[in-house]
Amino acid sequence: MTNEAIMRLEVVIIVNAIIKGMAMLKIPTTCSNIGPVNFIDEAIPRLGHLPEGVSVVYDVKSHVHALQFLPETEEIKFPATSIFKSCQYFPEEFSVFFILKHGNTYLKKECVFSVSTVHRTYVSVCLTSKKIIFTYNNKKSKFRNSILTDNKWHTVGFSVTGSHVTMTTDCLNRRKHKLRRNFPSFLEIQNSVIQIAKCESCNSAFQGLLKDVIFVPGADVARRTCPPKTPRNAYMDNRIPTDPDSHISSYSSVGPDWAGCKWMDVGNLAFDVYSRSIKVCVNGIWKHVTTDMPVEKPSYRQLDYLEVYQDVITPSASIDVELFHMPGEGLFAVFANSNPVANRARGVSGLYKWTEKSFRLYQRLPSISAQCWCHFTIGENFYLAVANYGNDTSKLTNSTIFKWHRHRRKFREFQTVGTYTARDMEYFTIEDEHYLAVANHAIGPNQEVDSVILKWDRKTRRFVIFQTITTTGAYDWTYFRVQDYHFLAIAQAFNGRTTLMESLIYVFQNDKFLPFQTIETNGATDWEFFTMEDEAYLAVANAYNYGPQNFQNQDTYQTNSSIYKLDIGKRAFFKYQTFITNSAIDWEHFMLGNDHYLVVSNAQNGGSEQERLTTIYRLQGVDKFVPVHHMYLEPSADWEVFEDDNDVYFVYSNAKDRKSQILKAKFKYI
Ligand SMILES: *[C@@H]1O[C@H](CO)[C@@H](O)[C@H](O)[C@H]1NC(C)=O
Ligand SMILES: *[C@@H]1O[C@H](CO)[C@@H](O)[C@H](O)[C@H]1NC(C)=O
Ligand SMILES: *[C@@H]1O[C@H](CO)[C@@H](O)[C@H](O)[C@H]1NC(C)=O
Repeated sequence: MTNEAIMRLEVVIIVNAIIKGMAMLKIPTTCSNIGPVNFIDEAIPRLGHLPEGVSVVYDVKSHVHALQFLPETEEIKFPATSIFKSCQYFPEEFSVFFILKHGNTYLKKECVFSVSTVHRTYVSVCLTSKKIIFTYNNKKSKFRNSILTDNKWHTVGFSVTGSHVTMTTDCLNRRKHKLRRNFPSFLEIQNSVIQIAKCESCNSAFQGLLKDVIFVPGADVARRTCPPKTPRNAYMDNRIPTDPDSHISSYSSVGPDWAGCKWMDVGNLAFDVYSRSIKVCVNGIWKHVTTDMPVEKPSYRQLDYLEVYQDVITPSASIDVELFHMPGEGLFAVFANSNPVANRARGVSGLYKWTEKSFRLYQRLPSISAQCWCHFTIGENFYLAVANYGNDTSKLTNSTIFKWHRHRRKFREFQTVGTYTARDMEYFTIEDEHYLAVANHAIGPNQEVDSVILKWDRKTRRFVIFQTITTTGAYDWTYFRVQDYHFLAIAQAFNGRTTLMESLIYVFQNDKFLPFQTIETNGATDWEFFTMEDEAYLAVANAYNYGPQNFQNQDTYQTNSSIYKLDIGKRAFFKYQTFITNSAIDWEHFMLGNDHYLVVSNAQNGGSEQERLTTIYRLQGVDKFVPVHHMYLEPSADWEVFEDDNDVYFVYSNAKDRKSQILKAKFKYI
């Protein structure tokens, strides 16, 4: 291949920005996506055997079943991860309720429940005769206990939002205390356990009757649940007897679990195991409570089409957009703006914040022909790293890691990393260690170059080199995990002669990454990992067809891009489905309801009108992925999907121009 040809390829690649960073649906890793859960049901399955010291009693007076705990009760605990699945942090905002009856007036700090690790109590509630002690992140808030030992049923709820905790008893009394905490607190779910009736932060075991311990993340359920303080007539049901106690039996037809709703029980809560919802007793009738949780719509919604929602004008064309959520700060999108202006040492990339349902420019971040942005969190700190291509392909360029300053609410430069025409940064963790993989593309005309995996050094609090891996025309690192195996796939685009070459998957073993499998790719710029029904898949975006296999240089933008499926038994990925793609530099997998979708970018390097369409595919059983939507859009480089208020939005970055777009999903109900 002549120098001219190399130049041409470089130019084509740069000008058309057939360039990609990583593409993964970024869901905030705070565990706020679960519905109401009853800790007791999780700890003591209804049909399982009862732990020692626990018995089920039937309270004749109120017609309810409840658990009774004796002093010799054994530890009742389960890992928090069995409820908080595939997320990292304990919800920052939550409500928790329990329903109890206690007749003992001399309580020695009895435990109702706790969520804790060995060193830290995330949340717990202890009772003494005088106080109800709510602990959050090892800090105690004490509320006066004026009612709980009268041997009657009571509902106690705590709601934590921002810097307050509110206790609500029987929906009648509400008391608010200031909560001393960092917001967000980032309490790691990993290694935490949930305990019922016996816990480290309280001295003794609970010795009354306990019905439910209901946990709901992200909502002030008490406020929504409790009826207005002065009962309005609308709530009145003319079946309600004036003397409720004499008519209890007339309500038992609702079922034994629900019979506890009497006129006296205004505001009592219960958890319906069948509908997995919370119910509140309002004047003798159990009413469903709506929470912030995504609730199943009565009809099933399916993607109908996408409509343009907002144009985002970025400082220059952008080949990557990273969407991320910072708890307490909001949702952000940062565009990797390749600065095409010659003779300018530095360019800028635009950081946008989702404000009142649109993205607004928030900060300009210095970058030098940015190729990819990568957001991550270490401890309580937020970071944003940029892969800088630089302005001279033969020289070392600094790529930058920025750190969020909590008080200024801006990103500031934190560390620089020397890179050669960097295309991608990929953050991942393995066993609590933090890593950042950099894809170096080439040094001048030489595609073979060391790419670098950095590791966070806890002492210096900086990234240091962990391993170098020689790569050839590298474009994208994609980390993924299958069971306990950690993988890194590299997309390699060009070896100086042809784009038809091998890309590699590495596996982490004995503290380093070792080759696992090679896969033939054609101008590969992106890997997308996703799972469907517990099976692992890897899709490659093949962007460019150049070399002896296409000596006439025809339709260089048109390639076959494939999805590979992991066969765990054979320990290898096998081809699952192949698509003809046009200028594909990014695949994005997303789910709407139970449907799996894929969108593939089209950077529009050429071809007929028809070939400039962007396509969305939906998984349709044995037909695999079937194209369901075609769209004429700006040349798209990178796709991301996010949800807000039950609406689904798409962001794509414009590979050739300043106008990137937000699209909104329109649904049809079937
Ligand atoms: C490239 O960037 C460096 C600093 O990063 C600057 O000194 C130099 O002038 C730039 N060169 C060109 C050709 O823009
Ligand atoms: C890269 O950053 C380091 C430290 O900030 C600085 O000393 C060095 O001059 C920078 N190199 C270039 C090429 O800008
Ligand atoms: C794509 O795959 C088809 C079917 O295997 C093949 O005929 C075609 O040549 C391939 N195209 C390219 C660009 O590799």
